[in-house]
Amino acid sequence: MFRGVNFFAKLSTEIIKRRRAAPVKEKRDDFLDLLIEAAENEVNECPNPLKNDVTLVAQVILFLLAGFDTTGLTIALTIHFLAVNPSIQVKVREEIQTHLQKYVRNPLNLVSDHGR
Ligand code: HEM
Repeated sequence: MFRGVNFFAKLSTEIIKRRRAAPVKEKRDDFLDLLIEAAENEVNECPNPLKNDVTLVAQVILFLLAGFDTTGLTIALTIHFLAVNPSIQVKVREEIQTHLQKYVRNPLNLVSDHGR
């Protein structure tokens, strides 16, 4: 566990350094860019300052840990319950199809219609 965290901490520290050194070339418009921008524009009255790169790296690790198992487990459980409740699965599928047709111009680009 700690080896993994150390690896990720080193990796994100290196990426933060690179982005600070070449902000235009390395810009990705992602979560890390937003964090770096927030740290640079921070005002002193902020109650939870992004004081240094260690704090930035901690936020990156927290986001990865907080976002990984929560979404992974939710998706796995949802798929499990849909698999053991085929009638609900049909309903959910129909609902998704309706919304895709309503809001997405070409839904077939997003969802291939396997098994039909
Ligand atoms: C099904 C998905 C998720 C569930 C059930 C979930 C649940 C929670 C819960 C219960 C809390 C504590 C809230 C509190 O006590 O104030 C929390 C906090 C947090 N979650 Fe999630 N979460 C999910 C997905 C995510 C994802 C995808 C991310 C980021 C990519 C994320 C990032 C965080 C962070 C950073 C906090 C701490 C917020 C703070 O410091 O106040 N979570 N989450």
